[in-house]
Amino acid sequence: MGGPEEAIRTRLERAGQAHLLRFWAELEPTQRASLRDTLAQLDAEELSEHCKRAAEACAREQGGRGQAGRLQGNLEPIPAEVLGSVCRSDGATRARWEEEGLRQISQDKVAVLLLAGGQGTRLGVPYPKGMYDVGLPSHKTLYQIQAERIRRVEQLATERFGTQCVIPWYIMTSEFTLGPTEKFFQEHNYFHLKKSNVIMFEQRMLPAVTFDGKAILEEKGKLAMAPDGNGGLYRALVDNKILEDMDRRGIQFIHVYCVDNILVKMADPIFIGFCVSKGADCGAKVVEKAYPTEPVGVVCRVDGVCQVVEYSEITLETAQMRNPDGRLTFSAGNICNHFFTRGFLQEIAEKFEPQLKQHVAIKKVSFVDEEGNLVKPLKPNGIKLEKFVFDVFQFSKNFVAFEVLREDEFSPLKNADTADKDTPTTARQALLSQHYRWALRAGAIFVDANGQRIPEKHSLSGNEGSPVVCEISPLVSYFGEGLEMYLKAKNLQSPFVLDEAVMKSMAQHE
Ligand code: UD1
Repeated sequence: MGGPEEAIRTRLERAGQAHLLRFWAELEPTQRASLRDTLAQLDAEELSEHCKRAAEACAREQGGRGQAGRLQGNLEPIPAEVLGSVCRSDGATRARWEEEGLRQISQDKVAVLLLAGGQGTRLGVPYPKGMYDVGLPSHKTLYQIQAERIRRVEQLATERFGTQCVIPWYIMTSEFTLGPTEKFFQEHNYFHLKKSNVIMFEQRMLPAVTFDGKAILEEKGKLAMAPDGNGGLYRALVDNKILEDMDRRGIQFIHVYCVDNILVKMADPIFIGFCVSKGADCGAKVVEKAYPTEPVGVVCRVDGVCQVVEYSEITLETAQMRNPDGRLTFSAGNICNHFFTRGFLQEIAEKFEPQLKQHVAIKKVSFVDEEGNLVKPLKPNGIKLEKFVFDVFQFSKNFVAFEVLREDEFSPLKNADTADKDTPTTARQALLSQHYRWALRAGAIFVDANGQRIPEKHSLSGNEGSPVVCEISPLVSYFGEGLEMYLKAKNLQSPFVLDEAVMKSMAQHE
């Protein structure tokens, strides 16, 4: 090895990572080139700092579980004055928030930003989660549902305020998800959105590290790398000049959300309107936590500052605490739907990003041993450091939380169908139940093959299956609105799908 390789070796030696070149002599030219590229992107100082930090954080974490007790002492629920609620507000107030949200959308001031760089390990599919089809009658994927909700809410804003408008869709991907996501959108003609309004960008990757601070080789010529967490967003905004793009478009408010919630209300006008009318710079949607160990973070105050304590970091004792009325004390479940002003994001990117906490995930990371054999460890052997998107709440000058109904807004796809929660089946049922409730509210009557009325179930919640299959395209209705004219007093047979074509033919038969 000579020339530029020698320089890399020197740098790696300085960083205590020379083992990464152990198999250099055996590598094919293409493998060498790719390893050289990866290593060239990693600054020696940063790499050494990263490995040191990972090992220290891990030792702290493992040695100091007792710290959680100290944390618990300083935890309080969020105060009532920062918490708005969709169900504890009256119709007129909700209508005012919605009007405000639609006004901002109609003036092209609102964007949505999807966090889609995760690897979706729990679901276990080899492609990005957004491409998943949960088995609806239409077979729409999560990406398609989201795209159609954007189109419909743009239309609602246009109808209300009489101006054409656009909600740009920023999509943060990672090395794992960028290629397939781009290809999928191209193949589906960007779901009839304008390509220039769908902006994909990539977050950074970080090396996985052993407990003694050495970067791991997963192949002889390849480092084990993982995305830097959904809080990698803030560096990625800078790396990819996304804030400049937002500025050029006049965007002021951004709805950031995670990919897997089939009920996500894209650019939700009520949420945006609530946050804007409170003058918030940062906000989070929450649902009431279902049970103490539910894997959702809780929005709460730690030492007087609003933040999220992640489900992996809360003690069981804290998670189980209840109020005298029996409700969980820490019940504000984070559903990864956040509101930010552009100014706030700018401030984070320019000032606070380096202060964001590095969270430690201890994982099983496959590696090549000293003899070059591939080892799949049975026990966790590697540390991944991740930043979390919500860790910026502490820097907010005016933080608000907004409680919404789980059955209307939260059904995440996390696991394969072998699990009993947060699966393709539960996501599908949550969506179909919601659409069934909308249809009933609009006056539809479901009948069986003999024309007999099927008894109605109005109080369906969560993952309970509805007695019929009813799917309503987001292009027809964003959140249950405008359905009476098609469905009132209509006898419908299951499975019933209301899409644009059915809508047109129903309108013609009026
Ligand atoms: C997340 C929240 C949790 C919340 C739950 C609700 C975080 C850190 N945790 O947990 O508080 O209660 O959702 O469903 O936000 N992602 C990236 N890049 C990464 C890692 C993840 O873009 O490096 C994206 C994923 O693609 C996904 C989102 O972030 O869209 C959430 O990631 P995931 O790992 O599924 O979060 P949870 O652990 O479920």
